[in-house]
Amino acid sequence: MKISIIGTGYVGLVTGACFANMGYEVCCADVLPDKIDSLKIGVIPFFEPGLADMVERTLESKNLFFTSDVKEPSSFADVIFICVGTPQDALGKPDLSYLDEYFAQLIKTLKQDKKFLEDIEAKKHVFIKSTIPPGTIKRLNLTLSKNNLGDKILLSSNPEFLKEGSAVQDFMKPDRVVVGSSHQESIDIIVELYRSILWKSDRMLITSSESSEIIKYAANSFLAMKISFINQISRLSDAIGGDIHEIRKGIGMDERINPHFLYAGLGYGGSCFPKDVNGLEFVMRSNDLTSELMTATNSVNDSQIQYFVSKILHFYSLENLKEKEIGLWGLAFKPNTDDVRESVAIKLVKLLAPMVKHIYAYEPIAKENAIQELKDFKNITYVDSSLNAIRDSHFLVIATEYSQFWNVSPKHFLQLKDKCIFDGRNILDKNKIESMGIRYFGIGR
Ligand code: UGA
Repeated sequence: MKISIIGTGYVGLVTGACFANMGYEVCCADVLPDKIDSLKIGVIPFFEPGLADMVERTLESKNLFFTSDVKEPSSFADVIFICVGTPQDALGKPDLSYLDEYFAQLIKTLKQDKKFLEDIEAKKHVFIKSTIPPGTIKRLNLTLSKNNLGDKILLSSNPEFLKEGSAVQDFMKPDRVVVGSSHQESIDIIVELYRSILWKSDRMLITSSESSEIIKYAANSFLAMKISFINQISRLSDAIGGDIHEIRKGIGMDERINPHFLYAGLGYGGSCFPKDVNGLEFVMRSNDLTSELMTATNSVNDSQIQYFVSKILHFYSLENLKEKEIGLWGLAFKPNTDDVRESVAIKLVKLLAPMVKHIYAYEPIAKENAIQELKDFKNITYVDSSLNAIRDSHFLVIATEYSQFWNVSPKHFLQLKDKCIFDGRNILDKNKIESMGIRYFGIGR
């Protein structure tokens, strides 16, 4: 089967490479010619474990190719996955301009294709993977009908649930594949497409397009809400001397709650949760509905970083901090990605840098993107190891929980001039560290 993928960001590239790896012929398209030129020689514009090898392999086997020709994807395949970005605008409203532009282009291309129009059998099965506000497919279907293409372009939703850092694995072993469609022909095609991935377990859910659009927003918002919930509880735990690790285990052992996404920390970041919670809030409002849970999820998340900074300010006065050099571990929005979009670690540095004398920052993967993001701050040195971040520092701040940080021998912390650690991800052994005479501040412990 032939497949076209529109957009070569995280979702598009992972989807294209994985389908190509499964033996399909895949055309990946993007409007950015420079990006396509790099991809053609196997240069991936971001870091995602396992992806570069897969792209190299499938380019070599010719299952995968890249194009910046806007018409090529629709002539190449009858099955098209749209994976363009749907960022939020300044008001938190989903910005669908890339989607709408592609759609206008598809309609224009197909209206000029006489052979396609005259062949009553010919159809394009278009699946939207991009996160779209509920109601988008209905709106696009109206546009198709107005252009007399309603029965030629069959539109469905197939939201992605990939996590950055494990996207390839998530694609190959999905929790579920949700397909929102009212077109039996398209459903048959997508069942066949995913057959080899899903043959061991029946994890495909066919829904209406409206349900499928809501599932994506609701899943991300629910996970974000869990994080804000535990972060709020962490403040109570701090106030009366509980341990958030014990609390997480205690509530997570209830199967109805489960232990996932209950790790207290600096709050959630990344290109999805902040955007999708805002997006859901916007969609609720547009439907004259209130969205108290989304609003609260947002505001707890926004204040969590301030809560952490206030721990530092409580220990050191503002005056005192001016003299301090600090070590900082992690700048990516989570481990194993070079993505710093909406990274809480970056937000933290932006708050701390003006308050302290110097920051020695260590980031294993996202260093280049972080430097770009923090270029206005002149008192940051980017060091090349976690230990070099500690060497000349008064105290340490942990902002992203890379596994290598968990295993640093605590004896190294004795080098910290003030023997003090602020662990924004709760990864260190508090008891061990305190038994060495080092002050330890976590979140909710
Ligand atoms: C998220 C979802 O997990 C994916 O299922 C979804 O497909 C994706 O968004 C998307 O919509 O594209 P991702 O943004 O890659 O994936 O990252 P997560 O692993 O979900 O982490 C998001 C943020 O929550 C990170 O900042 C992480 O540090 C934070 N987090 C996560 C916590 O603070 N506590 C937790 O217990 C879990």
